[in-house]
Amino acid sequence: MSEFQQMNRKDEHLLHALNQYQSESHPDFQETRFVHQSFSSVPFEEVSLETKLLDLKLSCPFFINAMTGGSAKTKEVNQRLAILAHETGLALASGSMSIATKDASTIDSFKILRQEAPDNLIFANLGAHHTLENAKRVVDMIEADALQIHINTPQELIMPEGDRDFSNWLQNIEQIVAHLAVPVIVKEVGFGMSRETIQQLHSIGVQVVDVAGNGGTNFATIENARRTRISYHELGDWGQSTIVSLVEANSIPKVNRPEIIASGGVKSPLDMVKCLAMGAKAVGLSGTILQLVHQEDSLPSAIRIVKEWQEQLQTMMCLLDCQNITDLQQTDLVLSANVQNWCHARQID
Ligand code: FNR
Repeated sequence: MSEFQQMNRKDEHLLHALNQYQSESHPDFQETRFVHQSFSSVPFEEVSLETKLLDLKLSCPFFINAMTGGSAKTKEVNQRLAILAHETGLALASGSMSIATKDASTIDSFKILRQEAPDNLIFANLGAHHTLENAKRVVDMIEADALQIHINTPQELIMPEGDRDFSNWLQNIEQIVAHLAVPVIVKEVGFGMSRETIQQLHSIGVQVVDVAGNGGTNFATIENARRTRISYHELGDWGQSTIVSLVEANSIPKVNRPEIIASGGVKSPLDMVKCLAMGAKAVGLSGTILQLVHQEDSLPSAIRIVKEWQEQLQTMMCLLDCQNITDLQQTDLVLSANVQNWCHARQID
């Protein structure tokens, strides 16, 4: 794939992601319900939003998930994302830095993240075909606190210029996890994960997994829109929703699974709190945050909205009688009939 193609692709992804965004949450989110209890012993002021991923401390359990970089336009978006993170204390992931390993002129579009958010947790990002050497390079480039490795076979296959051979991915990931100095997070890109995938990742030493389910930004639809021949419309619904992916993760005994991040279609603090109650240690948002910052003058309102989400999250935790994120895992949730059917078919209790 030429670098020109790749730069255009980043701009196109932004455009399509913005156009396809829907503000309503996926039915699996909407139909997952908390059981209301009338008493709470936790004062609002005592609710803590802190969480941890391995040894990384997050002051807020939701973060800006991987999106962009690699072109002039995406540098501007990255700058706004980093300022938003800096002003609100959110952790922040870079978009894929693959282009930066090949074309030095694009490195600034990623370095801007560290420049604008010098003290935030920042995650670098690469595809699973990359070597350990590239992984070290991109982490150094932005002084990243962790590396995200994305796995995206449906996207690659639908993308006309995408990869067609994924046979070395698990070995590459294993190498990187074993030798990189910072933690590695393996993430999907909106197709979700099964318990088998999570178990495979755990067996090669992966300690943090982001299930990134469907229900939000849809890379089957985005890549389909970029195609000129052979359409793949029927793959628009491919994969597991975020709630189903969490159910899959929870079907593995806790000692035998990585720490779980939930993302994919998260639109509101209520979606976030459901993910956390279902065992996620942190929650990532891409499409919803992109909506907040895509316009040049959007930063003040984006900062205000993110601060409101933080307060709303605290409110819901108070309502659920939870002082911290760990307490949330003790709350009672009722799953939708669809999700229960999935559990039945997959023999998940
Ligand atoms: C993404 N995503 C993504 N993921 C990744 O690991 N590396 C990447 O470079 C990108 N690029 C990218 C661009 C744009 C414009 C968007 C919106 C998203 C995928 C993202 O991290 C996430 O997994 C999915 O978008 C699903 O989450 P949302 O968008 O529904 O919150």
